[in-house]
Amino acid sequence: MQITSFEQYEQDYKKSVENPEQFWGEVAQNFQWRKPWFKVLSWNFQDPEIKWFEGAKLNITENCLDRHLATNGDKPAIIWEPNNPEEESVTLTYKMLHERVCRFANVLKRNGAKKGDRICIYMPMVPELAIAVLACARIGAVHSVIFGGFSAKSIADRINDSQCKLVITADGAHRGSKQIPLKDVIDDALIGCPTVEKCIVLTHVRTPVSMLKGRDVWWEDEVKHVNDICEAEEMDAEDMLFILYTSGSTGKPKGVVHTCGGYMVYAGYTFSNVFNYQPGEVYFCTADIGWITGHSYIVYGPLSQGATSVLFEGIPTYPSPSRFWDIVEKHQVNTLYTAPTAIRSLMSFGEEPLHGKNLSSIRVLGSVGEPINEEAWHWFDEKIGHGKAPIVDTWWQTETGGIMISPIASVTQTKPSFATLPLPGVQPILVDENGNEIEGNGVSGNLCIKFPWPGMLRTTYGDHERCKQTYFSTYENLYFTGDGCLRDEDGYYRITGRVDDVLNVSGHRIGTAEVENAINMHAGVVESAVVGYPHDVKGQGIFAFVIYPEMHGEAELSKKDILQTVTRVIGAIAKPDKILFVSGLPKTRSGKIMRRILRKIAEGETTNLGDTSTLLDPAVVEEIIEAAKQM
Ligand code: PRX
Repeated sequence: MQITSFEQYEQDYKKSVENPEQFWGEVAQNFQWRKPWFKVLSWNFQDPEIKWFEGAKLNITENCLDRHLATNGDKPAIIWEPNNPEEESVTLTYKMLHERVCRFANVLKRNGAKKGDRICIYMPMVPELAIAVLACARIGAVHSVIFGGFSAKSIADRINDSQCKLVITADGAHRGSKQIPLKDVIDDALIGCPTVEKCIVLTHVRTPVSMLKGRDVWWEDEVKHVNDICEAEEMDAEDMLFILYTSGSTGKPKGVVHTCGGYMVYAGYTFSNVFNYQPGEVYFCTADIGWITGHSYIVYGPLSQGATSVLFEGIPTYPSPSRFWDIVEKHQVNTLYTAPTAIRSLMSFGEEPLHGKNLSSIRVLGSVGEPINEEAWHWFDEKIGHGKAPIVDTWWQTETGGIMISPIASVTQTKPSFATLPLPGVQPILVDENGNEIEGNGVSGNLCIKFPWPGMLRTTYGDHERCKQTYFSTYENLYFTGDGCLRDEDGYYRITGRVDDVLNVSGHRIGTAEVENAINMHAGVVESAVVGYPHDVKGQGIFAFVIYPEMHGEAELSKKDILQTVTRVIGAIAKPDKILFVSGLPKTRSGKIMRRILRKIAEGETTNLGDTSTLLDPAVVEEIIEAAKQM
């Protein structure tokens, strides 16, 4: 199933469009099924209802673990690199990982978990996180991993939305020089989570934590009570595999649902092709398993292909900005897959951190999560790849399950800042505001996908109508991505960024409405409006315009308080970079905030604000501009 030439890519692409069922049916033969499908695909985008590999039975962990045991049992599956480079790294072979997953799967059962139950995972980037994820999949429980930076309230909202029965966490996490008290945060969250019966706690940072009798148990104790034999649960291809919450343009994050069969095929196929993974190579994706990139390209994609996947607990700048390069050298990394934010941040330290580092093992570089600017692209290419490693700029989303538009390493001619061409099976189209297709090259529009692919979301948990409204109702018969996009003269795609009220801050998706809700929870705040603005390292920064009449001149203190409120309500990742206190917001006569104007002001524009004639009170704009100038 690996594409080795551009001609083959063109042929496969053609086939995937002309006969998608045959194409994906053949790709799926490369995986292990307990029972074959009777129909490859049935679908409609109206409801929407999408079914891939109908009737087929499988367990994804048999594909990620069991099937490699006979031939590759002693091959490293996961290489764990700790936050502190002075600590030992840990290698788990496929045999070891299989054994630990089975054992922990038995722990889950012992604690009452069964097929279909939802399990929340809130853990540091340690091998046990991958083990927990796979153990859920082993018994057919649905995992909902929550990134370790989210607050107690965010966790509680997510747990309650999906009615989780069990939580898996750790005493704490290391992140650079900081320690994050994960169990404390979970304790706060669980006060408001009546469905949670058990909480399994891993010892990691060895900080004291309180354990609630009857609810909390230690990972280390539990594994002693069970053996390591656990038959995988037989799953239907369309059974739920996991839920992953992501932000949209409304205030409430939605639980994107992925299912077993299609997701597995798509994650495995795209991993193998995009990175042109070769047996024996070491692959390092720097994302966190709390995001979709970690799900698909640290855990399921690489393991389904028998790859060796590096799992890194720390951050790129700790203990020094050489850390990534030290890891590359130490583990002889062949593929490095990271985010533009990390690249830009490392660039800012100059070349000193690269001195004396041997990066010659690198064969392929990857970028994900946000548009990569040309300067960062060239730096990555020259300084890290030495002009010899193709950069795969991979465009995709939590909802797409896997990479959609991207070069195929060593096959597709790359172009700085371009995600280039759709992968086989992906049918992108650009539309104007009215949903009319924009044909030809050298055009831009809103990016939609017109045909299903196996990795696509099936629903949003507990609210199918929301899935329909968000993705399938803006344009008839199309999946709407929320992204703007350009198709150049060569037919190459360049993603230009979100066209809805979603920000992309350091590659993290954050809804403006979510941040506004959080700010508005602060006592004294009457109203707020949040917009994005260009930020050198983060890609986008968060700019909040806040009405706070009673702050009595204590502006700096009030800002601090607001930041704290946002951290409590969402998490530190959503903290505004700039806060401007204003006495009013530009609104239309119908009461709608005109964000277009605020966006321009946040960008530093003071004169060309476009049409302001529909504003209820144009004087408010003058006042905001004046206040912004004083910042
Ligand atoms: O705006 C696009 C941007 O990230 C969004 C998806 O965010 P999330 O669901 O968190 O998934 C991130 C990891 C796949 C998209 O709608 N995005 C992602 N990759 C790229 C990108 N923008 C430009 N270029 C990319 N390669």
